[in-house]
Amino acid sequence: MQGSRRILVTSALPYANGPIHIGHLVEYIQVDIWVRFQKMRGHECYFVCADDAHGTPIMLRAKAEGINPQALIDRVHAEHLSDFQGFNIEFDNYYSTHSDENREISAQIYTALKDAGHIKRETISQLYDPQEKMFLPDRFVKGTCPNCKSPDQYGDNCDVCGATYAPTDLIDPLSVVSGVTPQERDSEQLFFKLSDFEAFLRDWLDAGHTQSEIANKQKELFEQGLFDWDISRNAPYWGFEIPGEKDKYFYVWMDAPIGYLASFKNLCDRTKGLEFDDFFAKDSECELVHFIGKDIARFHTLFWPATLYGAKLRTPSNVWCHGFLTVDGQKMSKSKGTFIMARTFLDNLNPEQLRYYFAAKLDDSIDDLDLNLEDFQARINSDLVGKLVNIASRCAGFIVKQFGGKLSDSLPDEVLFAKFTEASDSLSSAYENRQYSRAMREIMALADQANQYVDAAAPWVLIKDETRRDEVQSICTQGLNMFRVLMTYIKPVLPATAEQAEAFLNVPALKWGDSQKALLRHKINKFTALMTRVETEKIEKMIEDSKEGDPRMASANGVANSGPLAEDPIGETISFDDFSKIDLRVAKIIDAQAVEGADKLLQLTLDIGGEQRNVFSGIKSAYKPEDLVGKHTVMVANLAPRKMRFGVSEGMVLSAGPGGKDIYVLSTDEGATAGMRVT
Ligand code: 2FM
Ligand code: ZN
Repeated sequence: MQGSRRILVTSALPYANGPIHIGHLVEYIQVDIWVRFQKMRGHECYFVCADDAHGTPIMLRAKAEGINPQALIDRVHAEHLSDFQGFNIEFDNYYSTHSDENREISAQIYTALKDAGHIKRETISQLYDPQEKMFLPDRFVKGTCPNCKSPDQYGDNCDVCGATYAPTDLIDPLSVVSGVTPQERDSEQLFFKLSDFEAFLRDWLDAGHTQSEIANKQKELFEQGLFDWDISRNAPYWGFEIPGEKDKYFYVWMDAPIGYLASFKNLCDRTKGLEFDDFFAKDSECELVHFIGKDIARFHTLFWPATLYGAKLRTPSNVWCHGFLTVDGQKMSKSKGTFIMARTFLDNLNPEQLRYYFAAKLDDSIDDLDLNLEDFQARINSDLVGKLVNIASRCAGFIVKQFGGKLSDSLPDEVLFAKFTEASDSLSSAYENRQYSRAMREIMALADQANQYVDAAAPWVLIKDETRRDEVQSICTQGLNMFRVLMTYIKPVLPATAEQAEAFLNVPALKWGDSQKALLRHKINKFTALMTRVETEKIEKMIEDSKEGDPRMASANGVANSGPLAEDPIGETISFDDFSKIDLRVAKIIDAQAVEGADKLLQLTLDIGGEQRNVFSGIKSAYKPEDLVGKHTVMVANLAPRKMRFGVSEGMVLSAGPGGKDIYVLSTDEGATAGMRVT
């Protein structure tokens, strides 16, 4: 093994305006495994992250909720932390880009770039929303594609023909924020001169710091000449003011990656002996390893190395990209219930199982990976429960009950045990190179061998023969030793299960090197089940819960790091014809009941004038059922009936608010009676 390395690892910073979903978790699990592996190997490794707390979507989201951005980012920070903890993602620091450290370091880096002549000013024309009195980011403008004339396209590129353009090129643009036609206005902006760094970036991209597909893709840009990057935004904007400028803020993507440094600085300030400059000085020998989704590669493999280089700081050792998650072969979908929030998963299933499934699918490529729910169930039940945990459960009982917990003095099959210890090099290189799927295959192949050994030795038969008791003890010692080595190897993936195994094996926290020696003449503790099978009903409930309309889902981003469009504050416009298809009726709530087994739903019986409707509504957190009875509300009466786990829902009740206690069922003025059409 090489000498001890000093490594700072980061994962992408999630936006602070929506919950963590399983698409995000691909990355956090991938990184957590890598970091845990490095730590088990004895390296000095730090894992930092933060919420990405700035930008227009966060400003507008807070406005929509009627709170200030600080309150929003504080709330989401707590939610993110608890979701990550639930999945055993162990950050050394989880911070926020809206911090004093980030303000300071962003200002320092900007000033260094400016002093070195890498910032220029240019007047550009941008779209301005006269009603909201704000300049509109590209994705807050929609209109007709100037190329293929498809309607309803965003201001940066066309989903239909793939053309990229400026928002000012859109035909008939509309502000997504207010729906009004934006105006073109000139304003002076600050640009980072990426073109100054062409030679540096060519070398950096050729030097193997990132995957070759990613490097090649970025290099295509060199052909047309590197464009300079607009790093400023006009007020009103939620972010850091640019030093020396009036009403100008750093674009969120300027201070977001600097948030990696700020999070680490905050950790250094709290950790004796940990020096920020050791990691970030130009000549640092420490490693800086970023993990990201492939959609944000340009920011991390062009702008970011150039920013650091231009500010005379060290540049990244690696930027490792991964693909996106699909569920059952398709993009995650709210209506299919496959847009699964981290919390919904935790409410129904064991997080270690998702960690294992992702590990079994992840490698060093940028290909997308699929969570197939049937395969998930089969693989967990077969690999983890049927193979890995089974070795221990077949052997531990005999040792505890028949031999007072004592392991034997030697192993009966040293040759077989050597196969397990010898796997260390291959497995460590698989982890190091992010080829987790290969590591899981090799571990499971060894688990098969261990089970075959126990099958053939059949201690349950031998135990009946008084004269062969010693054999049973040594067979089970052999089994438990093979199990212990495998548990060491898989510990980066299954940290909680490994901890339970350490407790019953009565050993200190397993380190990678523990795979090389046998545990003999040692007393173990009583065995407790380490993992249970995945049941179909649990998966079904998770899917139903995901359809149920968790109010937090309204703010969920697209699949994994979907870019700066965190949400549409207004949403897509619909035509008048579409609107007139919606049959809104006044409905009288004649009964309301809690729904057994559903955390968020109330079952409402609605009278819409001679007709009764059964509707499930996700408002339980805000209303006691009895308080609703007798109220008049508004419902969508012609929504197609939807089969839910608890029955058929025949329409939808209109309500507003961010969620939790703050959901308000719309009610009508006196005089409106059940069945009246809402016009
Ligand atoms: O795409 C995203 O979700 C961004 N919030 C990632 C930022 S990573 C880093 F640059 F801060
Ligand atoms: Zn088009």
